[in-house]
Amino acid sequence: MTNTVCTVDLSERVQKQVSAERFAHILRVADLAAEIARVNGLDEERTYLAAILHDAARDFSAEQLIALTPPENQVEKAHPLALHGRASRVVAQSWGVEDLEVLEAIEGHVYGVTPEHPIGMAVYVADVSEPGRGVNAEIRELALRGKLLEAYQQAVVSKVTYLQSKGITPHPRTMKAYQKLTASKRTMVGSGSRNSARK
Ligand SMILES: [Fe+2]
Repeated sequence: MTNTVCTVDLSERVQKQVSAERFAHILRVADLAAEIARVNGLDEERTYLAAILHDAARDFSAEQLIALTPPENQVEKAHPLALHGRASRVVAQSWGVEDLEVLEAIEGHVYGVTPEHPIGMAVYVADVSEPGRGVNAEIRELALRGKLLEAYQQAVVSKVTYLQSKGITPHPRTMKAYQKLTASKRTMVGSGSRNSARK
């Protein structure tokens, strides 16, 4: 659906409630997410909007986050800061954003989205690979070559592998995304030619 709210106005509202460094990160994520959207045939405007709003609540205190979005499980209780995806969605809704896919992309940028949410995948990939982070350049390059699903798979798989190597339980939504992605990866490899699988 068409957004009835102005992206520039929303960007200014976000800028007022995050640090200058955070806002610079947000702008880099938004620019990269829009470029990823363009290359992968997604709606650039809606992807940019989701990215502008993705960290709207990132600088809230733990108490503010818990008040806005009470933890729903042990992972969220243990890491209140990670509630900021859900909290940013609530903030965006309070500012008049109604586009469900945009809202799900905002919420999903912390714990991941399932592959049925391409705007969410674009924002997630842009967030973990924007140039200011200094990591995940290969994930960014994959997405900018039109291989968003592969880039997202790589981002989620490496996150789950890292958490598990540290003995940290991934969030249930991250595991749901991981399981869907690894299942589709097996299908892709299984249906591809032997030669392409070896490359
Ligand atoms: Fe974030």
